[in-house]
Amino acid sequence: MFENNAAFFYFVVLFAIYAFAGWLIEVVYRSVTQRKFINAGFLHGPFIPIYAVGAFFILLVEYSFRGWHPAARILIYGFLLTLLEYVVGYYAEKIFKLKLWDYSDSRINLHGRVSFVFSLAWVALAVIFILAIHPAVSQKVFELNSLHVKIFAISFITYFLTDFLFSVISITRFKERIAYLYAEYFNLDNIEIEKISDSLRRLSGAFPYLNKYINDKINSKIKVGMGAYLKTVQGKIIMEINGRRPYENEYYQITKDIFEHEEFNRLKDYFHHNSSIYEHVKEVAYLSYRICKYLKLDYRSAARGALLHDYFFYDWRNHDEPHLHRKKFHGLEHPKIALHNAKKTFSLNKIEEDIIRKHMWPLTAMPPRYKESFIVSFADKYLSSKEFVDEFKKRINQRLSRKKSRKPSR
Ligand SMILES: [Fe+2]
Ligand SMILES: [Fe+2]
Repeated sequence: MFENNAAFFYFVVLFAIYAFAGWLIEVVYRSVTQRKFINAGFLHGPFIPIYAVGAFFILLVEYSFRGWHPAARILIYGFLLTLLEYVVGYYAEKIFKLKLWDYSDSRINLHGRVSFVFSLAWVALAVIFILAIHPAVSQKVFELNSLHVKIFAISFITYFLTDFLFSVISITRFKERIAYLYAEYFNLDNIEIEKISDSLRRLSGAFPYLNKYINDKINSKIKVGMGAYLKTVQGKIIMEINGRRPYENEYYQITKDIFEHEEFNRLKDYFHHNSSIYEHVKEVAYLSYRICKYLKLDYRSAARGALLHDYFFYDWRNHDEPHLHRKKFHGLEHPKIALHNAKKTFSLNKIEEDIIRKHMWPLTAMPPRYKESFIVSFADKYLSSKEFVDEFKKRINQRLSRKKSRKPSR
């Protein structure tokens, strides 16, 4: 056992271990639910301190309520851990003006900060902790050499405070960066946009609710801005396009290898909107090419990325691809499928990849990293809805003319 004046350092070691264990739990939970590795938590390092604070709460309960019935102690764990989660959630919202988690979808919840199901999970964890984890861990820790413990504890405190400070700064800047990104989108160059997107990625991966925040609060704003920005260009270019077919030579030169590829031509066999995928991507690519050329952007990547943005070989409304849920998430899944297929056949640059991956934005939470991707996603939506409206009009006209022809002539 340790001397009394070293107790503090031993508890710091326990704190580090429990914060690390909390990080492991969150990483496993988030990586499994999101099907990719997620570095969970608000710190950069592998520690989630709220778990360690929770662990110390439980130890305090064990110490203060010794002799109470186990059921009563379990109730107290549940109450205290829920309170802890509520208080941390409340202050995170007050200080950062951001929700880091939100249980609003959960049936029994309080202000989205705590939920009954999660509180039950915390209680279960607390019982495992007090019966199995803490006795084993504390025994091992208390056997450690006190000098080693002191050195570790002081290094951990130094690291922890530094990480905490930088994490607070990065979360405070999170909102500012998003606002800046969207306000200045068309004044920034691609490298700056990439840099800002990268800086947002870790936090939005660690706290999926932040993606919802980006979607709800800001994507809608930029959508309106984008619409206004492109309207003038679009009107002009569409008029020109209509009076100027077939497409010019330059467009064919930069897309020739794709158009001539046998596999690409198979897209003619798959129905999409009111024609084939082939016809649809051809239209999207040409409009994107023209807009990007007008805006002095990388029109080559825009045209090529757009040609491959729906590069999938199945009828999305009625297919029997065994690995694809028929109804589920065609909207979210097909960009990944298209990118996978396109990479197998063509070599793509970063912009082309981003165009394919993000063309369903804002269904994808993070916005496109390149302006070209914005344009293609816009052109895709514009032409898809136009194709839809055209098809609708065609059907109405057909029905009307059928009715007319059925009327007996007098
Ligand atoms: Fe698509
Ligand atoms: Fe499309």
